[in-house]
Amino acid sequence: MDAPRLPFPRASVLEISPWYTGLADRSALVRVRTPAGDPAWLVTRYAEAKQLWADPLLGRSHPSPEQASRVSDAGVMAGPLNEFDTEQAHHAIFRRLLTPAFSARRMNDLATLITTLVRESIEEMTGGAEHGTADLQRHVSMPLPVFVICRLLGVPFADRYYFKDLSARLATLAGEDPGIAYAELREYVGRIAEAKRTDPGEDLISDLVAAQQEYPGYLTGEQLTGIVAGLLFAGHETTLNAISYGTLALLSNPAAKQRLIAHPETVDEVVEEILRLNASGGIGILRYAHADIEVGEQLIRRGEAVILYSALVDRDPRAYPDAERFAPSKRASTHLGFGHGGYFCIGASLARLELRGVFGQLFRRLPTLTLAAAPEELTPRDERLTGGIERLPVSW
Ligand code: HEM
Repeated sequence: MDAPRLPFPRASVLEISPWYTGLADRSALVRVRTPAGDPAWLVTRYAEAKQLWADPLLGRSHPSPEQASRVSDAGVMAGPLNEFDTEQAHHAIFRRLLTPAFSARRMNDLATLITTLVRESIEEMTGGAEHGTADLQRHVSMPLPVFVICRLLGVPFADRYYFKDLSARLATLAGEDPGIAYAELREYVGRIAEAKRTDPGEDLISDLVAAQQEYPGYLTGEQLTGIVAGLLFAGHETTLNAISYGTLALLSNPAAKQRLIAHPETVDEVVEEILRLNASGGIGILRYAHADIEVGEQLIRRGEAVILYSALVDRDPRAYPDAERFAPSKRASTHLGFGHGGYFCIGASLARLELRGVFGQLFRRLPTLTLAAAPEELTPRDERLTGGIERLPVSW
């Protein structure tokens, strides 16, 4: 049989494609083709995905990049990244540089800001009206993560709307050439970095400017921009999608919503269940085998592409009973929504804070909140690598 080609069709933005289930029943590793038509292994089950996520023999770079399978012919993250020979060393430096920005102390400082930003964004959405209809994604999911990243980076808070627009321009795969937005980001980050050199703060750009002396060959202005763009890419759309998905999931599951309202102390379980089932779209994370790897009976050969997709493997009935149902409980905290192993999401604690901020307040402030469109009517954002939906109309 011909290997099926991604992306697979799905019925609703709350679900993944039913095609996946059939493949998972067949085998833990299945031959598929990427949207560009290139071969890849799709990992369909939880245990094997966890094993492979942690395997240092899988990387983002490729031993012979010109022969690598690609997801598409254009766009970021569409093929191999970084240099095969230096990937591990550079990745270790990258993690070391970024870790202090996510320390418990800095997260503590951000927690208060997040509570305020969530309150303000809900107030802005309702405009003080007792009843109304609005796009929750535009007013809440979209601004919150980028404003928080501004503070994390040390971008002046007055620039936050400019920064939000720049981030949106960088993320789109259609319309304006993202290269133009990238050049603008480089100039902007350069200016902020200069200012931090003489007037450092408790923020990531100040950390990076201070570290430039330690890694002179590594942290050029170009790399600094790359790190900022990478953070925007990794931390904005992902969190935005999780907020919108979570709202949608709770509004479509009245029992779960009622439980959260009656027992606000269960908000962490709700957040973990959102992260487990988050089906924002996209096709998953691409890796390449740096050596032959055995997974059960199957051999992945050096250079072959592997796709790890948490929305699929976190629905594996071998890992979770009644896996497809949105039912917050203690079980979800083992999910792979933030990946696993050496690439585990650096921003996980921040993302959790933001989701806790939103779902700790949203239904308390707007107990009558409902969807103003059926999930089937919502338009998926297929032109985005990270998927998601165009709008989330709600009424209160
Ligand atoms: C709900 C929101 C989020 C989700 C679902 C998410 C998910 C993930 C996943 C699955 C990975 C692993 C990628 C891989 O294996 O290659 C990852 C990595 C990463 N995430 Fe997140 N993320 C979220 C929020 C954030 C935030 C808020 C930030 C920072 C502001 C962030 C920064 C990063 C970075 C820098 C990496 C790369 C780590 C590395 O290369 O070692 N993420 N994220």
